[in-house]
Amino acid sequence: MSRENLSKGTKKVSRPLRVGILGAGLVGATAAIALSRLQDVKVTVFERSPGPRIAGAWISLQVSGLIILDKLLELEQIQRILYRGDNNGTYMVRHWRTGEVIAITPSSAHIADKFKQGRTHRVPLLDVLLSNVPRGAIQYSRNAVGHQVTEDGVHLIFDDSSSETFDLLVAADGLYSKIRRTYLPEEVRYRGSVAYRKVFPESQVLHIKGLPNDSSSWRKDGEVMFLSRLGLGQYGMVTIFKETPEFAATLYWAKNTGSEGLSRLRERFASWDPIIGQVLDTMQDVDAYPLDSAPWMKQLVRHDRIAFIGDAAHPTAGAYGAGATMGFGDAWALFRSLQESNTPPSSNPVTSSQTSQSLYDVPRALRLYNETRYHFLGRVEQQMQLDGLDAAYISEAAHDKAEWIRRFQERHKNNTWLMEHDVEAEFVKTLASEPLWAAKG
Ligand SMILES: Cc1cc2nc3c(=O)[nH]c(=O)nc-3n(C[C@H](O)[C@H](O)[C@H](O)COP(=O)(O)OP(=O)(O)OC[C@H]3O[C@@H](n4cnc5c(N)ncnc54)[C@H](O)[C@@H]3O)c2cc1C
Ligand SMILES: *[C@@H]1O[C@H](CO)[C@@H](O)[C@H](O)[C@H]1NC(C)=O
Ligand SMILES: *[C@@H]1O[C@H](CO)[C@@H](O)[C@H](O)[C@H]1NC(C)=O
Ligand SMILES: *[C@@H]1O[C@H](CO)[C@@H](O)[C@H](O)[C@H]1NC(C)=O
Ligand SMILES: *[C@@H]1O[C@H](CO)[C@@H](O)[C@H](O)[C@H]1NC(C)=O
Repeated sequence: MSRENLSKGTKKVSRPLRVGILGAGLVGATAAIALSRLQDVKVTVFERSPGPRIAGAWISLQVSGLIILDKLLELEQIQRILYRGDNNGTYMVRHWRTGEVIAITPSSAHIADKFKQGRTHRVPLLDVLLSNVPRGAIQYSRNAVGHQVTEDGVHLIFDDSSSETFDLLVAADGLYSKIRRTYLPEEVRYRGSVAYRKVFPESQVLHIKGLPNDSSSWRKDGEVMFLSRLGLGQYGMVTIFKETPEFAATLYWAKNTGSEGLSRLRERFASWDPIIGQVLDTMQDVDAYPLDSAPWMKQLVRHDRIAFIGDAAHPTAGAYGAGATMGFGDAWALFRSLQESNTPPSSNPVTSSQTSQSLYDVPRALRLYNETRYHFLGRVEQQMQLDGLDAAYISEAAHDKAEWIRRFQERHKNNTWLMEHDVEAEFVKTLASEPLWAAKG
């Protein structure tokens, strides 16, 4: 029978692609916006908390992520919550004690102003994203405890024993992803440092003489302090420093360490640029985030049915201030992969046994997604190792300020390949080379 006869002879019944997204964090919400744009899909998001999570602190948005958000929503909504200061968002990297600028990390000159890096905080960012998710798509208080893959699809199982079935499950359940850990049981481990973070009204610090109007980071070996306005009248402080595993074990994610925690910080920073102490003096308390990580996923997809995105796929808390940006990249790559694998009915004859199917070739979409992100994310993970080597070299000169600065500048990289990574271009390249890599796989 010719193709023509087949398609004429069979009445095709297609149904929407059933997409389940686990997790309504920054990345799950972005995926919900993107995937809802596809034709013939039904997107449902499951979030275990009872409502939008209002915890969180400073988030840097990088060029790569802003370009994606611009494709998904009215970018003006983001500009309103973004702070770029006097320097187009460029970080001023300062010597820890003197505060002198020793390096800068501008966005590339050819990048349009509206896409240049900037700082915001998680709460308004999540608000903007959620306001763009189709109404009713998110179900709160749904805690998934397991999943099963059968011929019918992926069954997501919840703590009340209910279950839901999907053609595609998108795991956006964060650093501690249960779904990831069914495949990669490697423990999520403490990696030696704790981040202390707080967002507070900028009115609290604006009286401080000489307070920079830019986003600044003060660097010492293995320790860093970030200070910046964050937009919407807020100010942010983030510092990362080493703590013993014993001490870290007394903390948990977003634990408010109160005035005791703050005293610890003031002590730590007593010998640093005095402007830091002046900011700390205006604060009442500080939240601690012990930084955990696990090896990144190499296979970003499983069983032709599950895709991992965001921190669930690359579980490192706070790499390059690009965690959210990388997650937005995942969401975009997955959207484009699905869009590409949507086959118009006329060219997709089906046999009677296949009648109630979606028009998507999900296995192909997942291969496209994996291939689009695999090489880039692998390079980012490698960069973290390379940075470790550089840090060791720089810290050998800790006792000689001039030599330390020289080494710091020698090894300082702008990482524009990461911050400005063009996910769409990468996708187009992946698609064009599909005959080559698909044959190998
Ligand atoms: C100190 C620090 C600084 C950082 N700075 C930056 C920065 O400047 N810029 C930046 O881009 N990124 C930064 N990040 C990283 C950024 O916060 C993360 O990359 C980003 O929030 C990841 O989003 P996500 O949606 O993948 O995961 P999450 O935000 O963790 O969301 C996962 C969601 O899934 C839900 N969930 C989990 N399990 C289940 C379940 N079983 N059932 C139902 N729901 C579930 C959770 O409740 C949560 O809402 C920083 C991180 C740290 C720790
Ligand atoms: C910021 O960008 C504008 C326009 O791109 C440029 O003219 C200006 O010099 C930049 N400012 C700084 C401090 O880099
Ligand atoms: C980033 O570094 C590369 C390589 O050293 C350089 O070519 C490029 O001009 C730099 N970009 C910016 C914005 O500094
Ligand atoms: C920051 O901006 C304010 C108001 O524009 C200005 O008065 C102050 O001098 C600036 N501070 C620095 C360090 O440039
Ligand atoms: C993901 O991509 C990498 C790199 O091409 C490949 O080695 C791997 O087999 C792919 N995994 C899947 C499940 O397609």
